Amino acid sequence: MIKVRRGSREDLPAVLDLLSRVWDDDYVPHLWLEWAESPSEGLVLVAESDGDIVGTTYVDFMPHGACWFQALRVHPEFRRLGVGSALAQAALDESRTRGRSYAYLGIDAENTASLNMTARLGFRQITEYTLLSLTLPPWPTGMERPKNTATWCKASLSDLPRLLTAAREAKRADFIACWQWQPLSSEALQENIEQDNIWFWDDPSAFVFAGFEDSESHPHLFDPCGQPEAVKQLIDFLTVNLRREEETRFEVWLRHDSPLVEFLLHQRGFVEQEGYTIWEYPLQPLQ
Ligand SMILES: CC(C)(COP(=O)(O)OP(=O)(O)OC[C@H]1O[C@@H](n2cnc3c(N)ncnc32)[C@H](O)[C@@H]1OP(=O)(O)O)[C@@H](O)C(=O)NCCC(=O)NCCS
Repeated sequence: MIKVRRGSREDLPAVLDLLSRVWDDDYVPHLWLEWAESPSEGLVLVAESDGDIVGTTYVDFMPHGACWFQALRVHPEFRRLGVGSALAQAALDESRTRGRSYAYLGIDAENTASLNMTARLGFRQITEYTLLSLTLPPWPTGMERPKNTATWCKASLSDLPRLLTAAREAKRADFIACWQWQPLSSEALQENIEQDNIWFWDDPSAFVFAGFEDSESHPHLFDPCGQPEAVKQLIDFLTVNLRREEETRFEVWLRHDSPLVEFLLHQRGFVEQEGYTIWEYPLQPLQ
């Protein structure tokens, strides 16, 4: 019998043990306790079988009543028993009770188990991203860095009006930053700026903004928003300016039907990685 309930600090050792059996190098163990202790920002659930924790998940509350389902993990010995579905269903029920309007989530395009489970629960796939990567060699010791007229910097709240103008000009209704997709709005951009997730490229002739994860070994650029020529220039700029002392893997996320995918593959030597699918579930109140 599977029972789903809220997770709390006391569950941490059992949850960490469970997570260690699912994936090496997972981000969830680093964030789980912080999530469990911030109930106004989201919802942590655990699934129990005979008193043992065999699964967990997290719902992150986003602006406008949207929420992002993530970190669904089921113990390998308890799969295909309905644990994942029970956790996701409880997350939907609880989000609906809290008056949330939409649930969204992202799944790697090759994760058949999660794709099948999500479709069976009634989610609908709404878009897909292609992940492209380019290995940047180390910057040669002693060689001077180029002097740039453009700057690539973290956005602050005072940049919000320019971001909104760029989004309007590019006819963008949504964005992805730090693996989370959501409808684009002033509040959503503001929250991401406050979390240091949004960067912009300010060239005298062009303006582009994007989600950016500034990791030393593999920085991620998420679906840049700007005119196509300006986005190409930004990617060329970063291909030079993100070179570090060590080899770096530059990862670029683009909507799967963007013409820039072909450009980066054939003109810039990027390599196609796995896709990332985005799913939606409307949380209308039950009649
Ligand atoms: C994805 C995951 C959470 C599914 O959990 P689960 O408890 O095994 O899922 P359920 O038992 O609720 O499965 C529900 C349905 O999903 C589908 N499904 C689940 N696992 C599947 C698999 N390995 N292959 C194909 N379909 C699968 C089936 O349709 C299944 O129904 P059925 O068993 O009656 O055929 C689990 O495999 C897991 O923890 N994977 C590793 C972490 C992960 O990928 N998390 C999701 C990140 S987006």
